Amino acid sequence: MTELLAKKRDGGTLSTEEIDFMIQGYTRGTIPDYQMSAMCMAILLRGMDERETLDMTMSMMHSGETLDLSPIHGVKADKHSTGGVGDKTSLVLCPMVAATGLKIAKMSGRGLGHTGGTIDKLESFPGFSTAISEETFFRNVNDIGIAIIGQTADLVPADKKIYALRDVTGTVPSIPLIVSSIMSKKLASGADVIVLDVKCGDGAFMKTEEDARRLAEGLTRVGRLAGRKCAAVITDMDQPLGYAVGNALEVKEAIAVLRGEAQGDLLELCLTLGACMMAEAGVALSVQEAKLELMETIENGSALGKLAAMVEAQGGDARAVYDPSLLPDAPLKLEVYAEQSGYVSHIRAEQVGLVSMHLGGGRATKEDVIDLSVGVVLRKKVGDRVAKGESLGTIHASDPQKAAEAYGMLRDCFELSAEPVETPPFIKAIIR
Ligand code: URA
Repeated sequence: MTELLAKKRDGGTLSTEEIDFMIQGYTRGTIPDYQMSAMCMAILLRGMDERETLDMTMSMMHSGETLDLSPIHGVKADKHSTGGVGDKTSLVLCPMVAATGLKIAKMSGRGLGHTGGTIDKLESFPGFSTAISEETFFRNVNDIGIAIIGQTADLVPADKKIYALRDVTGTVPSIPLIVSSIMSKKLASGADVIVLDVKCGDGAFMKTEEDARRLAEGLTRVGRLAGRKCAAVITDMDQPLGYAVGNALEVKEAIAVLRGEAQGDLLELCLTLGACMMAEAGVALSVQEAKLELMETIENGSALGKLAAMVEAQGGDARAVYDPSLLPDAPLKLEVYAEQSGYVSHIRAEQVGLVSMHLGGGRATKEDVIDLSVGVVLRKKVGDRVAKGESLGTIHASDPQKAAEAYGMLRDCFELSAEPVETPPFIKAIIR
């Protein structure tokens, strides 16, 4: 390992065997944290070429269990987001895509810090279980086309150890390290088609469109070299996605979209990601045609029906899909009013995530118990005109003191401009 460190420090290229030695050794504990930390920093500063990044991804993927989805008939599709605030995309996209006939056998994560996780959101359905057996998981996907479960403990143990190191050594924002981290998990999860939502902006890892594009290209290239169909969509994260931030609140917004009652950036993103999945899977001639087919799953109620079928098959109360008043509801609602008139120029996404976390909707540590009912519903988005005294958003809280503290925090998330603001394009690029 000392030799490999010197090689990478001096800008050299690591061989396939050297990379595997390092990843397997670190996972087993024969290479210590201090050497792996130094290697992460050397990679951040010196980079890795395409072959090294692919080798690192494959070695990480094989550091633990991989999921063999071959008992599921048909094309299996998966999606990944690099992490956003208010990102309830999977709750809308997966039922829509399943309604077109593609198979969704998905592993999702829990939320940590200011970003939420699909698994927590789904647990807003009373009784819903994300810890079903592999047999039930496969059966559900074969029978109804969709199942979403929590990530198993043995999936890519190398990433769990390396990510924990990167988090405390300033080595998160390295493209080869992000690519190998994300793609090792996606490849280990077994899908044939992988679509990536790469966020760009204030609330994202990648602050500029140029960096987001480099990441998206790195992710899709590794996916293709590993034999999967892969596409990426670069999307704006200069404000939260949609209007709701907080677990049950986001489920309610997702249901509204599936009922055809809500439009905007969330619907646009789900249609684009879903259409890329269908085009990559070869079941649609073009992205445009696929979007029309996906819209039909909303109009004819089949997407909502898939969500209900999944909730029921995983032990949840599916009546809540048709009657969202059965979902957790916070006892306190507090409107946050604008102190001046203007046009919304920016909504600090990360800060909005922190408001929800402050109310009890997110975790500071993995052990924290979250309150599914709390969060924020924005009333205004970037580009909207606001009059003094008008509501910017509603705080949903269980604790009066936290609600009062959240008031100023949420108000400060909004930047207003005296001049009209042009809404930036939400979808910045599609990489196929
Ligand atoms: N998400 C991941 O899973 N890994 C990274 O390195 C960055 C984002």
